[in-house]
Amino acid sequence: MANNSYEKPDFWSRKAFSEGYPARSVYKLKEIDEKFGMLKKNSRILDLGASPGSWTVFALRTLDGTGHVTSIDLNPLAKDVKGDNLTFIQGDLYDEEVRAKAMEGGFYQSVICDAAPRTTGNKFVDTARSTGLVELAIYYAQTMLAPGGNFVVKIFQGGDQQQLLKQMREIFVSARGFKPEACRTESFETYLIGLNKKG
Ligand SMILES: C[S@@+](CC[C@H](N)C(=O)[O-])C[C@H]1O[C@@H](n2cnc3c(N)ncnc32)[C@H](O)[C@@H]1O
Repeated sequence: MANNSYEKPDFWSRKAFSEGYPARSVYKLKEIDEKFGMLKKNSRILDLGASPGSWTVFALRTLDGTGHVTSIDLNPLAKDVKGDNLTFIQGDLYDEEVRAKAMEGGFYQSVICDAAPRTTGNKFVDTARSTGLVELAIYYAQTMLAPGGNFVVKIFQGGDQQQLLKQMREIFVSARGFKPEACRTESFETYLIGLNKKG
């Protein structure tokens, strides 16, 4: 039973459940995709920090039977998240073997990362952990995206967002921050967007 306003199923959670998504976070990706054209049909999509799988389901629905989605998480996907064109790798994004497996099918056109660290409640520690995951996700994008590819990554606000965007501008033709409407108003997360990976 929810015991505070953060845990109460809100409009977005109820909508996600009724539309067959395992988490409300899908609407953040939907908004990002509508604004930036993040995902393309007939492409290869890499989903980092994918569990329970609402971004993966959105990617599979966008592909509509074409292309391929590779999803990675420490935890399994919800049991009804499946597809003939889905590969799930259970493991740690920091693990060299996981990175090697992710590259088995070749380069990607989109890397999407909603990974969030285990939080402690201490903003300094949590922000530093989030920044570490963002740097790792940028490394995945840098090494696994094909030229022209797109990238989105979640970050806890308060870290060195400007420095990370500077790094992303060396890799992408354009890079910027974006906070979707679907982020809870009290949440301190936002997203960094990198478009059109340089050749
Ligand atoms: C907010 S959830 C992702 C929600 C997902 N995008 C969805 O729509 O269903 C964040 C996920 O990041 C994963 N994560 C955090 N650190 C990770 C790591 N080092 N390796 C793999 N997964 C990680 C967590 O296990 C968690 O499932």
